[in-house]
Amino acid sequence: MLACGSFLAAVAIPVSAAVGLTLDPLLRKSGTSADSSPGGNPAAELASGFLPIIRFDELPEDGTPVKSVVRIDVRDAWQVFPDQPVGTIYLRRFPDRTVVVFSDICPHLGCKVDYEADQSRFFCPCHSSAFALDGQAMNKVSPRPLDQLEARIDPAGMVWVKYQEFRTGIPEKVVV
Ligand code: FES
Repeated sequence: MLACGSFLAAVAIPVSAAVGLTLDPLLRKSGTSADSSPGGNPAAELASGFLPIIRFDELPEDGTPVKSVVRIDVRDAWQVFPDQPVGTIYLRRFPDRTVVVFSDICPHLGCKVDYEADQSRFFCPCHSSAFALDGQAMNKVSPRPLDQLEARIDPAGMVWVKYQEFRTGIPEKVVV
């Protein structure tokens, strides 16, 4: 059982720093080979902030959004905290073998958006922002569309996503 204080300190590490700290464990867990990243160099992908998330073939062919929790091993000076959730994303597959990935953080004020299958939209319960499946705002609550994240598919079919968070409440997409 982890001490509460230690846990809080660990998850407070910025994602970019944590990714750098956990390079080796991620490589071991993902099972990626030197040839399986888009550039043939998974270490470089991880160092640049890309994380292996899911296999492309596991995403529905019809483009239905799939929710995925982004997890990393967080390490401080003394301990490793494996598989810590740092965020949640939605992935959509397209016939031309591309993926579109959105953050689930509402650009309005930072609540979590839900995918509503019956409405074919993303919806934020806090102040009723609604977004189409392409991320565009369907009303004027949010100052910008859903935040799209960079994604790549490697030759082995693994989807890599650059997980980032952005300032809320402004029209511009600014990394925090
Ligand atoms: S935080 Fe989502 S609508 Fe306000």
